[in-house]
Amino acid sequence: MTLKVLALGGDGIGPEVVGAALQVLEVASKSIGLPLDISEDALGWTAWERYGTVIRPETLSKAHACDALLVGAVGDPKWDHIVIEGGPEDQDGLMKLRHELQVFACLRWARAHAALLEHTSFKPEVIINTDLIVIRELCGGAMFSPTRGIDESGQSRRAYDLNEYTEAEIERFARVGFEVARRRRKRVLSVDKSNVFIAGKLWREVVDRIGKREFPDVELTHFFADNAAYQLSCRPADFDVILADNLFGDILSDQSAAVSGSLGMLPSACFSHLQEGGRSERPAIYEPVHGSAPDIVGQGIANPCGTILSVAMLFEYSAGEIDCARKIEGAVDAALNSGFATPDIGGDHTTQQITDEVIRQFSRL
Ligand code: NAI
Ligand code: MG
Repeated sequence: MTLKVLALGGDGIGPEVVGAALQVLEVASKSIGLPLDISEDALGWTAWERYGTVIRPETLSKAHACDALLVGAVGDPKWDHIVIEGGPEDQDGLMKLRHELQVFACLRWARAHAALLEHTSFKPEVIINTDLIVIRELCGGAMFSPTRGIDESGQSRRAYDLNEYTEAEIERFARVGFEVARRRRKRVLSVDKSNVFIAGKLWREVVDRIGKREFPDVELTHFFADNAAYQLSCRPADFDVILADNLFGDILSDQSAAVSGSLGMLPSACFSHLQEGGRSERPAIYEPVHGSAPDIVGQGIANPCGTILSVAMLFEYSAGEIDCARKIEGAVDAALNSGFATPDIGGDHTTQQITDEVIRQFSRL
């Protein structure tokens, strides 16, 4: 098998962290004799400046034909004033990709790294051993609703984005979530606001039914989203898999990044399906959780760990190379343990210095 990877650096620090992660991808695949076919393309405002569109049709065709996409980030304040015709997926190259590939389940993995326990804003004893995945629904809800707009006919302008989910959307999402939990500590927390939202009521009912009928071996709990945010700050180590809609998942995943010391540490993997046993055989998107970080772009100090750990997820889910994934994670931990750190995690190393150290540690493991 040749693993076909499409690398889209995107905007801001995106190309810096993707460049770093590609070095790890190449070393790791060589070490297990896995042939790679990597192609690169522009995404977001970088594509806009070059081609006049945030994503070209050719790029979408390539995305459909690959096994995995490695994406940096999109977003550039310089272009914030531009409004493109169409729905939310037309405004943003990454939203378009998520929508086209229907990668509705986004796994965002937050861990407390031993080397960074003192660097976070938590007491070390509160976060030690934290290892949780927020699974965010990525193709529905208010963020993708076609029912949105601004009504200027009244005395006061009225803006709206409808938060809606179909039963089928919740079902397919819940199944991926339970499947992931089965491969971990078998504990799912589903988050909603079923006390106030009707969409939240359906969410709870459907997740509950799928869990009880199809995954009786997985322990399921429900929390209201506000309480979940509170509990996550008080006792993060108690969580395993958190299922949340597009909006709550966006917020809770950034919040959970605090246990790892920096938003730059968090990887993600987005799927349109997950087979039993946890394998994706359709194009999946791997990307760090952070954005384009315009405040540090071009300085060579972006933390590449979130993107490198996304490559580990790529090996696990798109290539079935679980040992190789664990080895990359081990190499990142080892690099941190030897004192390598970018400024966001309290050090003064560059993106390339950390990457070199991760590769050195990988080769030793
Ligand atoms: P951001 O994630 O880009 O940055 C938030 C803070 O974290 C900044 O202080 C930044 O310097 C720091 N940071 C983020 N990643 C880092 C890394 N790898 N190493 C070191 N420090 C890092 O979020 P922000 O500032 O809200 O948004 C900036 C732009 O990114 C906006 O245009 C936004 O729309 C876009 N964005 C894109 C996302 C994506 O493509 N997946 C996700 C979130 C935001
Ligand atoms: Mg976010």
